[in-house]
Amino acid sequence: MVIPKIYGLMPKIYGLMEYKTYQAFSYFALNSILSDHYKKWDFVPFNYYEFGTGEGNSLKYFLKSLRAVSKQNKIDIKKFNVFLFDSFEGLPEYNDSKDKNPAWSKGQFKGSLDSIKLIVKKIAPELVEKTKFVKGFYENTLTDDLRKSLNTYPPSLVNIDVDYYKSTKTILEWIYPICQEGTIFYFDDIFEYLGNLSKGEYKAIEEFNKNHLSEGFQFYLFHNFGIPSFTGKVFTLNKIVNKSD
Ligand SMILES: C[S@@+](CC[C@H](N)C(=O)[O-])C[C@H]1O[C@@H](n2cnc3c(N)ncnc32)[C@H](O)[C@@H]1O
Repeated sequence: MVIPKIYGLMPKIYGLMEYKTYQAFSYFALNSILSDHYKKWDFVPFNYYEFGTGEGNSLKYFLKSLRAVSKQNKIDIKKFNVFLFDSFEGLPEYNDSKDKNPAWSKGQFKGSLDSIKLIVKKIAPELVEKTKFVKGFYENTLTDDLRKSLNTYPPSLVNIDVDYYKSTKTILEWIYPICQEGTIFYFDDIFEYLGNLSKGEYKAIEEFNKNHLSEGFQFYLFHNFGIPSFTGKVFTLNKIVNKSD
């Protein structure tokens, strides 16, 4: 019978696609923000922010997609800026119950800054000068002064792969004032707590939506760009239209 055969193939198909969620996100999200539709809005597409660079897997996929998509769209790749935020010491230790996850521990996913620089040099040498590193734990590095200095580089795509609720909350509170209407966010770890949405990255999004409702900011679930993933989810950050408008 055909149906059992198709179901039998699914694990193999998903296996082949493993780790390609970043590729799918980068490719489709870049195509979205460079599309004619986005062009009609006052949207600056050139600033990629990545929180959680670790060993650089997501960065590799982003840079490869950027190379392909900028060529397709006849855009000089040098127009893009890349901002990478990581402790480069691996995961911190958090004791909040919204963060406890037996899969993770302090120091995990430690990536070296030098090997990340090599990745940029190899895949997108034109961007070596346009890649900025913010090294350290977000609680220390994400300051008002840093945000002011990035005011002229409004995020267009934001990749958040920091696993924890607390890290995500710190990032969202810091970044939203410089975001654009329609900034696309990819959250890699939405379902990493056995689907428990009162923990981890999802909890931080939910709290953000609750706390910033009065200012009108809201994360909206966008779409998955067909990403065959049980973890990543894509949101846009938008301003809510007031009922009186
Ligand atoms: C799962 S890893 C990222 C993996 C990476 N995206 C990749 O594809 O190779 C999570 C990263 O988040 C960083 N991280 C998490 N919380 C952080 C915090 N509060 N401050 C700085 N870095 C943090 C860790 O250092 C780690 O490199």
